[in-house]
Amino acid sequence: MTSEIIRFHDLHPTHADFEREALAGLRRRPAGIPPKFFYDERGSRLFDAITSTEEYYPTRAEIEILETRAQEIAAHVGTGSLLVEPGGGSCAKVRILLEGLQPCAYVPMDISRDHLRMAAEQVAAEFPWLEVHAAHADFTHRMEVPPTAPEGPRVAFFPGSSIGNFHPEAAVEFLAAVVDLVGPGGFLLIGVDLPKDKAVLEAAYDDADGVTAAFNLNLLERMNRELDADFDLDHWTHRAIYNEPESRVEMHLVSTRNQQVTVAGEVFKFARGETIHTENSHKYAIDRFQAMARRAGMNAAGVWTDHHGLFSVHLLRAGIAVVDT
Ligand code: AVI
Repeated sequence: MTSEIIRFHDLHPTHADFEREALAGLRRRPAGIPPKFFYDERGSRLFDAITSTEEYYPTRAEIEILETRAQEIAAHVGTGSLLVEPGGGSCAKVRILLEGLQPCAYVPMDISRDHLRMAAEQVAAEFPWLEVHAAHADFTHRMEVPPTAPEGPRVAFFPGSSIGNFHPEAAVEFLAAVVDLVGPGGFLLIGVDLPKDKAVLEAAYDDADGVTAAFNLNLLERMNRELDADFDLDHWTHRAIYNEPESRVEMHLVSTRNQQVTVAGEVFKFARGETIHTENSHKYAIDRFQAMARRAGMNAAGVWTDHHGLFSVHLLRAGIAVVDT
């Protein structure tokens, strides 16, 4: 479908990236595939469904924070900014901020092309005064504003605790890339999930309706569809565990018997109980996260939590470089 109400920019790498990264991850032991490959069309829809499950508290908690603090956030950030949302696949939470922020343009970037296009068109239809530039891009590789987007003080919005899906060192690198994106004095508004009780965390990543299990297993189905693989879904299960020392929830796909799988012509053997590690979701206490932000060149401008104390939203400001004369 072509669109007239948004500008669509295709900055995305090819199908070859999925094949290359999936094969490399399956050759490793323990095996692992990066979580960004969850988000094909079906995976994006399943992720949206996860956010409505009873057990997955982060979405509700973050929305509560954004709704109660929208004015305060706008007072810090000001109006007329260029609002960039890396990973803004369904453009859901940004709606809470748009009236207050009155940005000069909104730039959602996402790896899931059609999902992004549809969501961006909906935002543009709901906010007719808003210029929307949707960028189909893998922001874990490259984060850049499309060249035809208007200029304004830059504000990045990274909700959902997606920062938790990076390894802590990579998270600092990502934050440093955001500093480059927004420039000195620019802002980052970022959602960060907090450490908490193991039972609450494990339930959030293994809901009773099996939506998260379907989301995880869809990665195997995606390889069957796109990489000519032959994973038998009857012999893999979903597992979510809280690794407390690392302060992260881990998702795995567990092989329930000894088996052999072919992916893009290459054969892989899995023993019973062996896993493919598909996601880490790190949980950061407020002071730990602020220390990471400082390492990346950003300072705390505000931080808020929901009324249950489950989730945090940080407002960070990129440092202003001091030039010696
Ligand atoms: C996108 N990301 C922040 C989610 C999370 O909580 O780590 C992905 C997710 N995986 C399972 N449930 C949700």
